[in-house]
Amino acid sequence: MGSWKQVGAYRHMEDAQAKLVEQSYVCVFARKAELATKFYDHLFQQNPDLRALFQEDMYVQREMFVSILAMILKFASRPQTFHELASRLARQHENLGVSHAQYAMAVDALMAALQDVLQNEMAPETAQAWKKAIQELVSHMAPQNA
Ligand code: HEM
Repeated sequence: MGSWKQVGAYRHMEDAQAKLVEQSYVCVFARKAELATKFYDHLFQQNPDLRALFQEDMYVQREMFVSILAMILKFASRPQTFHELASRLARQHENLGVSHAQYAMAVDALMAALQDVLQNEMAPETAQAWKKAIQELVSHMAPQNA
């Protein structure tokens, strides 16, 4: 079990990974507007059908997406809070009918956006830690049996 932290049935990422996310957090979210733009660019490129779920004007959506993402990842080292915030976001998506596969695409789109925004500034182990954190967030949101 090592440094895994348990919150109910939920197991959080390892401490070392959470720390890497925390350490690189400021650097990533200093460029959050660009991150959000790139995220939706990648998401819609991979799955054009998803575009219709959103308003024509994506400005507010981008702002909401990236502020909530930032808020949740800020608590990478605090599993209880991370878990509560992720569950709240999951409830907000409950009736949207987003599939497991679409959530997996969101992970890929977010990783591609990170790569675009940070170019080569992010060490591979830090990128891996971000991926883990994003996967954990999305695992709260994805329907269990889809
Ligand atoms: C990292 C994953 C995600 C985060 C952080 C996120 C964040 C958000 C936030 C903060 C909102 C606004 C909630 C509110 O109205 O208060 C939202 C709405 C929404 N999200 Fe997500 N989301 C994620 C993944 C997805 C995925 C994969 C889809 C699938 C297409 C999706 C579809 C939507 C839709 C359709 C809305 C409502 C848009 C509208 O009302 O115009 N989200 N999301």
